[in-house]
Amino acid sequence: MSVTEAARPQAKSHLRQARMLIDGDWVNSRSAATLTVENPAKRQPIATIPRGDAADVDAAVAAAARAFPAWSRVAPRDRGRLLLRIADKMEEAAEELARLIALETGNALRTQARGEARLSADIFRYFGGLAGELKGETIPLGEQVLSYTRREPLGVVGAIIPWNAPVLLGALKIAPSLCAGNTLVLKAAEDAPLGVLMMAEACREFLPRGVLNVLTGLGEEAGAALAQHPTVRKLSFTGSTEVGKLIMRAAADRIVPVSLELGGKSPSIVYPDADEDWVVDGVIAGMRFTRQSQSCTAGSRLFLHADIFDSFLGKLQAKTQALKLGDPLDEATDIGSIINEKQFTKVCGYVADGLKRKDARLVFGGLPPKEGPLSQGYFALPTVFADASNDWRLAREEIFGPVLVAIPWRDEDEAIRMANDSHYGLAAYVWTHDIGSGLRAAHAIESGWVQVNQGGGQSPGHSYGGYKQSGIGREFSLEGMLDSFTQRKNVTVNLNTPRRA
Ligand code: NAI
Ligand code: MG
Repeated sequence: MSVTEAARPQAKSHLRQARMLIDGDWVNSRSAATLTVENPAKRQPIATIPRGDAADVDAAVAAAARAFPAWSRVAPRDRGRLLLRIADKMEEAAEELARLIALETGNALRTQARGEARLSADIFRYFGGLAGELKGETIPLGEQVLSYTRREPLGVVGAIIPWNAPVLLGALKIAPSLCAGNTLVLKAAEDAPLGVLMMAEACREFLPRGVLNVLTGLGEEAGAALAQHPTVRKLSFTGSTEVGKLIMRAAADRIVPVSLELGGKSPSIVYPDADEDWVVDGVIAGMRFTRQSQSCTAGSRLFLHADIFDSFLGKLQAKTQALKLGDPLDEATDIGSIINEKQFTKVCGYVADGLKRKDARLVFGGLPPKEGPLSQGYFALPTVFADASNDWRLAREEIFGPVLVAIPWRDEDEAIRMANDSHYGLAAYVWTHDIGSGLRAAHAIESGWVQVNQGGGQSPGHSYGGYKQSGIGREFSLEGMLDSFTQRKNVTVNLNTPRRA
């Protein structure tokens, strides 16, 4: 039985079981305990997954450690060729993978899941092609010395991913870490493991046993055990800043390197000279409304120049409310559902807070309907509050839902000061017809990624990551692979060796 079959809703009584990948085999957890995966758009169970714990982590790490010596010695271009074959396989299966992503995450098939499946395949293609670039340097110490560096893999990598773009974020751990010669234990998010397991199926066909192991289970059980495992030589985490700190503490105990890709509260600054209709489209894209704004790069603080404040919000309302909320698998749907009840309750809590605040004005949206078809799933309405302050909770905390706060500005320095007044620094957006203003702002903003006049997503090759509490390290690029998944060894050779007499 394939993972995908396991994920198909069964007409009859019991759910099919998905299994996890350890040492080349599809297995249940050693305890036999399971968790249920739900379709959040219908609040219906779709599959069970193993509830992996420390014993399963031990088995997976041991398998990865056994596979490491041989894998690390495969010539890099040959490792790259295997990644290219995985890319082909994933491209063939992209539509099926996209439907599975939509089913388990609630992300709309047309606007989100299909793009995610294709980009994930492309990530394997990108890193597969980079395998020949794992080059070192030579150091010019004179004619009598040869001093060179090698890029060596670290060993067993432990990676933990979230549910918001699960397959893409999984591909971004698997492809660069394996390309560089490491072996991997990947912990999928409990809410969206099925697409990741399907990707693992494509990988398993081409990889030696133990090179890739994919675990399912809870963060506090499987995730924590992986972060603390003494054999794991590198930790790579994408998720909340709160858990990122736990991962970093676990890494500190054993002095292992960490990459952390954490939360954001990214500013979007609109100047008065930009074409409003065009910027509205960009702000909607940057806010990731079509992923229910469950994105670390969501431009969720909108700094609008005071001269255009009301007219811009009027246009934003018209265009946002024209987007269709509904069944993620329906081709007509633009916006799907929030991932789970916990996140849904959290998002509704922020909206309720905004409604209570006297000086904030609800521009559109609000609490979700209690009746009708949308009440059957975790559907949240795109919501915008206008307020003069960058200090309240809704403007400071990562909501991870479709709630945007609009704040007016008059002076460019003041806009940039407010944009930077955040403990996050992941992404930013600047909208202006004047490229001088655009670049001045781009250079002054404390964020790892600033887009000027566009609101798109990351592309392979882009060194993507956070400033401040948004994270440490970059993984999306050649430099990211080299910095995050290899360690440098220097070899220094004295060439002036006298021969034995
Ligand atoms: P989370 O950070 O708790 O979960 C992400 C991953 O970490 C999951 O695989 C989870 O099982 C694992 N995990 C959780 N606790 C762990 C622990 N103690 N040790 C090791 N691994 C652990 O995120 P959650 O609870 O799903 O969402 C909460 C908030 O986090 C969201 O509202 C959002 O603000 C933020 N978030 C940010 C993401 C990003 O891409 N920057 C992605 C997901 C959530
Ligand atoms: Mg959590």
